[in-house]
Amino acid sequence: MKKITKAVFPVAGLGSRFLPATKAQPKEMLTLVDKPLIQYAVEEAIAAGITELIFVTGRNKRAIEDHFDTAYELESELEAANKTALLDIVQNVIPKSVTCIYIRQPAALGLGHAVLCAKPVVGDNPFAVLLADDLMLAELGHPNTTEQMVALYAQEQASIVAVQNVPLVQTNQYGIVRGVSYKDHIERMTGIVEKPASNAAPSTLAVAGRYILNSAIFSYLERTEKGSGGEIQLTDAIAAMLKDHPYLTYRFSAMRYDCGSKLGYLKASVTLGLLHREVGEEFKAFLHNMQS
Ligand code: G1P
Repeated sequence: MKKITKAVFPVAGLGSRFLPATKAQPKEMLTLVDKPLIQYAVEEAIAAGITELIFVTGRNKRAIEDHFDTAYELESELEAANKTALLDIVQNVIPKSVTCIYIRQPAALGLGHAVLCAKPVVGDNPFAVLLADDLMLAELGHPNTTEQMVALYAQEQASIVAVQNVPLVQTNQYGIVRGVSYKDHIERMTGIVEKPASNAAPSTLAVAGRYILNSAIFSYLERTEKGSGGEIQLTDAIAAMLKDHPYLTYRFSAMRYDCGSKLGYLKASVTLGLLHREVGEEFKAFLHNMQS
């Protein structure tokens, strides 16, 4: 069985919901307290044993490459000033054993197209896909969502999508799955549709931004026509692949924050602020005083 060592991060999106903040910087570089969003997803993947990070980037995304690269000037200045703790933070954004690969998506044709751009690097290996917009906070001491999905793949060798229940009025914001129960928190997927209206939704189980995919997905993506929003949808390729390949849906236990929306981003910022080692206590007192 092939181990999952590659993860694809589609990061070419325009981030228009965060304009003007995203006019000159990628939305994935927006920070939650002191770390950019993309770093949370990367840390989740690395904890799950991923050693090849494949970023599908677009225009205006240089800052992501720089973030995961050596920063010579900054490092030598920190070194000269003997700021070893900061130097450590800068040098250990990712471990040396992890490789970053950047592929440019020439046009914003959708998530499915972005994943297809990674084909030359992924080859015939199973791989993970992480959407950095979806911040997953695992319960303390528990494995993160990607770790759990990688472990499940090792047992079942089926493709997996992470799902959670959403209110019926929100089905038009997600890929929505249908399934039959299989094991605790796990269903066998029998259908999936991208952003259905609530009266057409097969369920309220929505896809969150974590996938484990068999490389067969590429040949389905190659044949996928434009779908919802005029984009090539990963969901549509999964729906086609489902006829020939098994898929599981996994109800993850982590807290998910939709950092692609302002409200979700604010909620994540407050949560991580409260959990932060350096400022958490004072921040808590601040919020408390604000309410009284
Ligand atoms: C994408 C997928 C959708 C999924 C969602 C999770 O949509 O197309 O199926 O439910 O991510 O965040 P987007 O949020 O990019 O519109």
